[in-house]
Amino acid sequence: MLIDMLERTLPYPNKCHLPFILYPPGMHRNHEGSEFLKRINLDQQGGDTVLYIGIPFCRTRCKSCPYFISALPHSDQARHEDAFVDALVKDIRNWARFPRWKTGLIRTIFIGGGTGSILGTENLKRVINTVFECFTVADDYEMTLEGNARDFTEDKISYLVNSPINRVSLGVQSFQSEVLEIIGSPHAAEESIRAIRALQDHGFENIQLDLLYNLPGHTMDIWRRDLEILTEIGIKHFTIYLYRIHKDSLQANLIRTGQVPQPADPESPMAKAMYRESREIAESMGFHMYMVDHFCKPGFENMYNHWNWKVYVDTLAIGPGSYSYFDGYRLGTEGDVAKYIETVNRGEFLISSVSDRLSPRVERERYIIFALLYYEIEYAYYESKFGTDFRSDFGPEIARLVRKGLVDIDEERMWLTPLGLEWHLNVIMEFFNPAFWGDEASLQEPNWSLNGVMVEVGARPRSYWLGEKREVFFAPA
Ligand SMILES: C[S@@+](CC[C@H](N)C(=O)[O-])C[C@H]1O[C@@H](n2cnc3c(N)ncnc32)[C@H](O)[C@@H]1O
Ligand code: SF4
Repeated sequence: MLIDMLERTLPYPNKCHLPFILYPPGMHRNHEGSEFLKRINLDQQGGDTVLYIGIPFCRTRCKSCPYFISALPHSDQARHEDAFVDALVKDIRNWARFPRWKTGLIRTIFIGGGTGSILGTENLKRVINTVFECFTVADDYEMTLEGNARDFTEDKISYLVNSPINRVSLGVQSFQSEVLEIIGSPHAAEESIRAIRALQDHGFENIQLDLLYNLPGHTMDIWRRDLEILTEIGIKHFTIYLYRIHKDSLQANLIRTGQVPQPADPESPMAKAMYRESREIAESMGFHMYMVDHFCKPGFENMYNHWNWKVYVDTLAIGPGSYSYFDGYRLGTEGDVAKYIETVNRGEFLISSVSDRLSPRVERERYIIFALLYYEIEYAYYESKFGTDFRSDFGPEIARLVRKGLVDIDEERMWLTPLGLEWHLNVIMEFFNPAFWGDEASLQEPNWSLNGVMVEVGARPRSYWLGEKREVFFAPA
């Protein structure tokens, strides 16, 4: 009884705050180059696909960003941008030649990075035109341009509002200059508001923005000022991310040497109040939290995530620093821009790291980890995807989660309880294959973006996050 109560108040020994979703983690160096693709059936009829285009540049390196790839100075005398876009356009064409992509249907497109918006208008146009020339894109597609307010010049905005781009995602982080300075963002505080207003003046409505909370030196007052602007600015979607200090980042070093204050513990009353108030404000604005930390007005849900994670289709990712997923393999393209250009110009694909082919079990685990970002597993949908019953496949895991009060179940689905939502990242670890825990060797492999985080989490033993394996006391019906 006492154990039961304790488990319900503190279900795991350590709460995970690192986003941990690019499952499975362990990828290894690809020594076969483009030949690797011979293992994959790319001649078959294609299906629904999401397309990611990675633009590997930022104006500056923010002090603790896992997505940074390379810097592009304002005065790009060497025309790195043109050389890169020449290669990117070729690469898009080359991928699109495979029957699998030629006959498939692109549901959503995300131009990210780095900073998607950094490309000059002409280059952006070239990339977008190539995508529409080479692929069949669904009539109700969503195309997001992710970027930074600093790049939204009049010229770019007037192209954008008349282009196939129908959603903009801005890395606002904060509307306060003192905060932007501490984290090293490339834009000035007022630039985000200017860019949003300029888009809205052209009738462009589908705008989402990222805000960060629990930053070094952050106070409740500063955060409330950001939330107040959020209520007034008229956007349709926002995300709030807990600021993370990444190992070996400039910010980690500045904190270690006392030049920047340590952010509050994510479990501190202040950090929790920041999160709670954002949820309350979102609700008062008529927004719903349709997936973990993602808020929107009904009808403005992120369709890229929807297709990728909820419907669960293939991802074709083109460009440095990106990850694809198809035919049961994860494939990564490293961020070395010169190597990318050189490889594409040789008529090859830069495939830097690869996973083993996912077993049926790992494939299901991957689906569950993604689907739980939307809080629930529907048994009928699971069965339609995999041909098996979720409850039979994961009986012990479900039983453990029910026992800890982290999920509830009925005849049709399993869903996260409020406690489960609070421990969401630990909950999804219950579906992490035992074979991948403690995989320290993967830390030595090239990793970038959030895959690095994923590998870091998995390199610890299972017991660190989930405690000792417990007996299963009952299996849910
Ligand atoms: C690829 S960037 C977005 C676009 C653009 N590069 C920009 O920052 O303006 C993706 C998002 O990652 C988030 N991010 C960056 N560093 C972070 C950190 N240390 N902790 C949590 N989120 C972070 C930011 O909210 C950022 O907007
Ligand atoms: S937050 Fe955005 S602009 Fe800053 S380094 Fe990361 S990707 Fe680049």
